[in-house]
Amino acid sequence: MKKTLTLLLMLSVFLTGNARERQLFDEGWKFLLADSAQMASPDYNDAHWRLLSLPHDWAIEGDFYAGNPSGAGGGALPGGIGWYRKTLNVSDTDVVSYFIEFDGVYMNSTVYVNGRQVGYRPYGYSSFEYDITGFLNKGDNVIAVRVDNSDQPNSRWYSGCGIYRHVWLTQTAKTRVAHWGTYVTATPSKNGKRAVFDVEVEVENPQKGMTVVNILLDANGKELARKNASPKGQAMHSSMAINNPKLWSTQQPYIYKVRTEIRVGDKIVDVYETNTGVRSFRFDSKAGFSLNSVPMKLNGVCEHHDFGCFGAALNEDALHRKLLKLKQMGVNSIRSSHNPPAPELLNMCDTMGLIVMDESFDMWRRKKTQNDYARFFDEWHERDLTDLIKRDRNHPCILMWSIGNEVLEQWSSAEADTLTLEQANLILNAGHDASTLAKEGELSVNSLLTRHLAEIVKRLDTTRPVTAGCNEPNPNNHLFKSGAIDIIGFNYHHQWIKDVPVNFPGKPFIMTESVSALQTRGYYMMPSDSVYVAPKEWWLPYTDPSFMCSAYDNMHASWSSTHEETWDVVKHTPYVGGQYIWTGFDYIGEPTPYGFPARSSYFGIIDLAGFPKDVYYMYQSEWTQKPVLHLFPHWNWMPGQEIDMWCYYNNADEVELYINGKSQGRRVKKAHGEVAPGNSILNTEYHVGWRVKYEPGEVKVVARKAAVKNGYPEIVATQTIKTAGQPHHLRLTTDYKGKTTTFVNVEVVDKDGNLCPLAQDQVFFEVSDGMEIVGVDNGCQFSMERFKDNKRKAFFGKCMVALKGSGKLKARAVGLEDAEMEIF
Ligand code: GAL
Repeated sequence: MKKTLTLLLMLSVFLTGNARERQLFDEGWKFLLADSAQMASPDYNDAHWRLLSLPHDWAIEGDFYAGNPSGAGGGALPGGIGWYRKTLNVSDTDVVSYFIEFDGVYMNSTVYVNGRQVGYRPYGYSSFEYDITGFLNKGDNVIAVRVDNSDQPNSRWYSGCGIYRHVWLTQTAKTRVAHWGTYVTATPSKNGKRAVFDVEVEVENPQKGMTVVNILLDANGKELARKNASPKGQAMHSSMAINNPKLWSTQQPYIYKVRTEIRVGDKIVDVYETNTGVRSFRFDSKAGFSLNSVPMKLNGVCEHHDFGCFGAALNEDALHRKLLKLKQMGVNSIRSSHNPPAPELLNMCDTMGLIVMDESFDMWRRKKTQNDYARFFDEWHERDLTDLIKRDRNHPCILMWSIGNEVLEQWSSAEADTLTLEQANLILNAGHDASTLAKEGELSVNSLLTRHLAEIVKRLDTTRPVTAGCNEPNPNNHLFKSGAIDIIGFNYHHQWIKDVPVNFPGKPFIMTESVSALQTRGYYMMPSDSVYVAPKEWWLPYTDPSFMCSAYDNMHASWSSTHEETWDVVKHTPYVGGQYIWTGFDYIGEPTPYGFPARSSYFGIIDLAGFPKDVYYMYQSEWTQKPVLHLFPHWNWMPGQEIDMWCYYNNADEVELYINGKSQGRRVKKAHGEVAPGNSILNTEYHVGWRVKYEPGEVKVVARKAAVKNGYPEIVATQTIKTAGQPHHLRLTTDYKGKTTTFVNVEVVDKDGNLCPLAQDQVFFEVSDGMEIVGVDNGCQFSMERFKDNKRKAFFGKCMVALKGSGKLKARAVGLEDAEMEIF
């Protein structure tokens, strides 16, 4: 028995002798924010450089400064040129190939091995791999990466700087599955009783006598089918079918795996795994969107790639926390605006059941900022778009590709290549001049470019539709005129939605981007039934010394709307497949409507620190079955002041407000189409409100079901907010505990534990050995405090600290009692 086991073990080692090994290559890099050609050289002395682990973003470590060339739009953080170096020891280059893979480097990266240039990649969001085998010597080798983000501005939001995503080192045999070399489609039959898995495999250095086997595994790794592949065009292909497949859905995102083995003789020379999922979906011009034949709305949000105090540096825990908070709100879809996301985002969306719109570019040939990707577009777009599709096409979560966001090619303008940002904005936001649209019967260069990009996508993936975020809703938009846009996508312009069936007969429709409301958590502008538009027109300055926006849903930019206004149209228009709200989380940069010192966005439903703004609960009440009762604002005002109390609720028939026990009246949400007197937005289909006189004490809301139980209406929920006294102590709670990172919320509270909603105390953090502070934040969009620090001011009573490791955290503030927490 023992003998047989040893033999089996030996055999398996032999069989998989040269198979692929893929490892993270993140640890032990040296870094310097400086530039010299010598830094590529293996002999260069980097002993004094900083030792760090990737992912890394050097910009987030800097200070906000009005003079930083990214401008407030880019987050007012530094740019520059930096170098990374690392030693790689190899023992064998004869039978093994070595590949280095970068998930993303912002931007203009040049990779050297032993002083020789291996490759250059300008687009900061593309993933890429280099075969470095021919550059390596036996023994030590020096890999050096130059990252150049000095030509700014090159982005309309905060980009980050450096190797901000993972790096991988892969060893394979010479015969291997090519990089992103599989294409798996999993198609259910009409009745869902059967599914066919088609697998195409691209093999590098194929050998005589080679066989390619595809093995289908269920989520537990159990083999369901296997099939030898046979040549089909350039690839090897097999088709496998199973009965009663488990479908991938937003509720139950079931993942299958295809294991591809390349065998030569009785040796397995490569093993490559691809995740996949079985689902059908349809975008319909009349019925909107359905997944697995179940009609649903895409309740989506747009997300940029930064993680607040982590900057652009990918942290899986920060990413998971982000997606979890969105999912709990009822979000079922993410738009990776306006660029390829980190691969980890797609992996998580696969397993969390979040649908993705995968987007490629924010500009094509015509630039939006002085030094943006437009200058690389002609040379690189084909490569970048191809790589995006090849990298991502196996993810079940992706249901559509977006070939661009608000590209200026929607309009024609001969001089557009030399536009200033101001002029570009003019076209972007006021581009309804008919002379810039396509003429009858004309197929313009811009329409041809649209076709060309859609064709690149379709060449590589025939299973998903192509869309684009268009802020020109006129059907003569050159992109629409191309006929290559499968799903018509508007950014904003919800007033034009009623005309969609006439303007785009037979075409499905979604709002690729919507809302752009403006909010600062904790700050309320009254009267709440006035809608504040800021700026009034996009070209007008908006100033308010508070640098804040209103957390009632009553403030938005001139091109946009309140949350309720757009949701009302989306909800009640059957042919609208859904919307992607700008944005789920606040992000660094683009602090509309303000300029410096504002340096992060006001658009988020959740602030940069991760605290939900009030409107989070409006969506939760509409999009989930979870019971919601959310009363706001706080209850610390001046006696006699007139205050608007708003309440989001569901699962109840009425709510009643009490101040110090005195009823302020019952309220019921309006029926669809029913408007409150004077068209007031104090009481709508989505919330109710009371205008009351403040007196210290407590305000309470009671939610009841009309169903009479024992003669009384049934109380289903209550919420009480008390007037907080003086700040007394700090309260720590775990917001999210991840694999390596813990997020702790800090609240300033009175002696009875009530949140002090106006507190601004400076909170100091101390951590024991074994723990490290990775970032601090409070969601304030104009704070000049550093993200990397051991202190943070409370903002409307709250702040947050992100920590790595385990041990003790202590939070202190002058005049308040300390708080401590053990993190395991
Ligand atoms: C859109 C644009 C977004 C963001 C947003 C702000 O026009 O696509 O990237 O700038 O406006 O409202």
